[in-house]
Amino acid sequence: MKIAILSLFPDILKGYFVDSIMSRAVGKGLIDYELVNIRDYAYDKHHVCDDSPYGGGAGMVIKAEPLAKSLDSIGVKGKRVIYPTPSGRVFSQSIARELAAEEELIFICGRYEGIDQRVIDLYVDDEISIGDYVISSGEIATLVLVDAVYRLIEGVIAGDSLEEESFTQSLLEYPHYTRPEVFRGLAVPKVLLGGHHAEIEAWRLRKRVEKTLRTRSDLLRENKVGKDVLRIRDELLDN
Ligand code: ADE
Repeated sequence: MKIAILSLFPDILKGYFVDSIMSRAVGKGLIDYELVNIRDYAYDKHHVCDDSPYGGGAGMVIKAEPLAKSLDSIGVKGKRVIYPTPSGRVFSQSIARELAAEEELIFICGRYEGIDQRVIDLYVDDEISIGDYVISSGEIATLVLVDAVYRLIEGVIAGDSLEEESFTQSLLEYPHYTRPEVFRGLAVPKVLLGGHHAEIEAWRLRKRVEKTLRTRSDLLRENKVGKDVLRIRDELLDN
């Protein structure tokens, strides 16, 4: 997958791409990335990229011209252009899966009050919110999306860890333990030490349902989960 990110502050993004799992994915050729500095496409003397909004009001707006020129420089034809914004559709694991199937993604990092609407009208395919709150850095919102997406690409991380993590099968994850066996008086659950694979699987599924019921019961609707999960849910509710 090719990922291009347009930003006024590309230095914020650089470190992310040279760290850990992402740098390995880049090294293996699974991800190719390009960071574009929008300021390089502001041709006035001071490379101004923002201006006050028509109609008045607080804050500044990123100007259409440098943004459109930077999009033109990388070429948008056939590529999905995403603008992370609090007014977009709310991001989820299923949207992450949808984006992971694309060959190329382009992200526009907003700042201040946002970007000129005409760039959205002309170029943007998808406005996505990372949640019902506002942050000041479009770079951080973009990295949240990129991180959730690239790890789903085949070969980036081991398949098994994807299968049982939160939100697959509409369930949250089971708890994890590693050495030592007792920490500050708290022992690792016995079932995990016994080496009995089927028992461990059953315990983990029960823990997933328990956790989901406690913190996100909305995920346990009948049409979203299997019969085995509903049976455990009902047992837990009866107790
Ligand atoms: N930029 C600022 N807040 C945001 C949010 N909640 N989602 C996406 N982009 C944002």
